[in-house]
Amino acid sequence: GQIQDQVLVIFGASGDLTYRKLIPALFDLFMQDLLPRNFTILGVSRTEFTDATFRDKMNDGIRQFAYFKNPSKEKLTVFDEKLHYLAIETKEASEYVKLQHKLKKIDHDHQTGGNYLFYLSTPPALYGLIPQFLAKFGLNKGHNGFPRLIIEKPFGEDVYSAFQLNKLLLEFFKEEQIYRIDHYLGKETVQNVLVTRFANGIYEPLWNRNYIDRVEITAAESLGVEGRGGYYDHAGALRDMVQNHLLQLVALVAMEPPTEISAGAIRNEKMKVFQSLRPLKEHDLFNSVIRGQYMSSNIRGGHFKGYREEVGVDPMSRTETYVALKFFIDNWRWGGVPFYIRTGKRMPTRVSEIVIHFKPTPHKLFVSNPDFWTMGNQLVLRIHPDEGILLKTGMKVPGAGFEVKTVNMDFHYKDLQETYVPGAYERLLLDGMMGDATLYTRGDGLEAAWCFVQPILDFWKHNPNAPLYGYPAGTWGPDCADKLIGGEKQTWRYPC
Ligand code: BG6
Repeated sequence: GQIQDQVLVIFGASGDLTYRKLIPALFDLFMQDLLPRNFTILGVSRTEFTDATFRDKMNDGIRQFAYFKNPSKEKLTVFDEKLHYLAIETKEASEYVKLQHKLKKIDHDHQTGGNYLFYLSTPPALYGLIPQFLAKFGLNKGHNGFPRLIIEKPFGEDVYSAFQLNKLLLEFFKEEQIYRIDHYLGKETVQNVLVTRFANGIYEPLWNRNYIDRVEITAAESLGVEGRGGYYDHAGALRDMVQNHLLQLVALVAMEPPTEISAGAIRNEKMKVFQSLRPLKEHDLFNSVIRGQYMSSNIRGGHFKGYREEVGVDPMSRTETYVALKFFIDNWRWGGVPFYIRTGKRMPTRVSEIVIHFKPTPHKLFVSNPDFWTMGNQLVLRIHPDEGILLKTGMKVPGAGFEVKTVNMDFHYKDLQETYVPGAYERLLLDGMMGDATLYTRGDGLEAAWCFVQPILDFWKHNPNAPLYGYPAGTWGPDCADKLIGGEKQTWRYPC
C-alpha cells in the first residue's frame, strides 16, 4: 500500500504502552525503512517533558523493548529528531488550541502535509472526550483519508458503553477513519489462520461440521495481574480477553472465505460469525460458563500471591481471573460443533493456541495406543510461544501387526531462519499509517461481540453467588472446567 507523509499524535505518551510497545515498534519500522519520508511523532499527555527528556525516556524503551535494541548512535539521533512532545491537560477542551498550533508548526517545519493519525492510548474515560475536543478545533477535518483515529482497548466496559462510544465517535469521525485495536489481530500467527485456511486446498474441504468434532481455543498466561490490579479488578478475564481477543480468534477460525482480502470483505464475514453465535440462555449460564480466581500457592519451588492479595485488588474481590466457555455457532458450517474457549492468569505456562479436533474414522480398523483414539487428529495453530502449526496424525508403529500411534507433523516459525517476524504493534501501526483497516475491528463487529458476552456479565451481576472457583496460582484453573468438554475421556489439551 501507499504510505503518506504524516504526523502520528500519541495521546497518553507518558504511559507504559507508549514506552514498551508503540515507540519500540515505530523504531523497528524506522530501522527497516518503512516509515514515510516526512514523518513526525508527537507525544501528548499531561506530564511535563521537554523534547529532550521525552526522547531520553523513549530511547530507554527502545533499548529494552525494540527488536533492534542496539542501534548505532547515528540511527538513534535520526529517529530522535522525529520525536516531539507537547504537555497539555487532555481533559480541557481549551488546551487543544495548543495542539492545533503545534501541528501547524510541525506541518510547516517537517512537510507532513496536514495528515494526522491520532492514537488514543489514554485511560478509557478520555476515548469519548478527545475526539470531541479535536473536532472543536477542526482537527477532525482533513484529506487523503486523514485524519485517522486509533483507539486502544478496552472499547467500552459493557455492551451499552460500547454502543455509546461508537455513537459518539461517529459524530466526529467516519467509520473509515476509526481504527479500533485488538493487538491479537496484529500477531503474525493470527493472520496465518487466514492463510492456513484459505491458501491451502487441503484444509478447507474438511473445515466444517462433517469432519470437525470440536474447536478449542486457549489463551493462558503465567503472569498474574502485574501491578494492573486497579484496572483488572473492574474488568476481569471476560472483558479483558474473551470479549475481544478470543472472540476475534473464533471469528477467524469460523468465518466463510471472504471474496477478497480487504477490510470490507473480511470484516463482513467476521460479522456473520458474531451474528451466528447462539445466545447464552439461563441454562448455559449455569452450565457452560466457568469462572475462577487464583489463590496463593507454593508451587514449583515458588510462592505466588493470591489474586485478592494483589495491589489494587479488593480483598473480597469476586472478579474472575479465569473463564472457560462452551458455545455453538448456529450456521450451516458449524451446526452442532461445540466451541470451547478458556483464558486465565497464573496458569502453569504462557500459551495461546487454537486446536481443531477432527472426527475419528468411521470404523476403527487398527489396534492403537490408547492415546491415539482419545487424541484423534488434531490441528494445533500455535499463536505463541513456539509459533507454528502442528498436525497430529496416526502412524504405523514399525514391526509386526498394525499398531498405530500419534506422531507430530510440526512446523516452527523459528525454523524460518531468514525471516524477521514483526511484532503485533509494528504491523498494526504500519497498517494504520497506510489506511488499511483489515486488521482492526469494525464498530458493528465489536458491538456484536459485546452482545454475546453481555448476558454473562448480567448473570454474574445479578447472581453474585454464582460459583467462582478458586484455583491455586500456577495451575490450569478450576478442575470442573474439564467437565465442560466432558465427552468420553475428553479434556482440554494441556500443552506443557
Ligand atoms: C491484553 C490484556 O489485552 O492482552 C492483558 O489486557 C493480557 O491482560 C494481554 O495480558 C495478553 O496479550 P499477549 O500478546 O501477551 O497474549
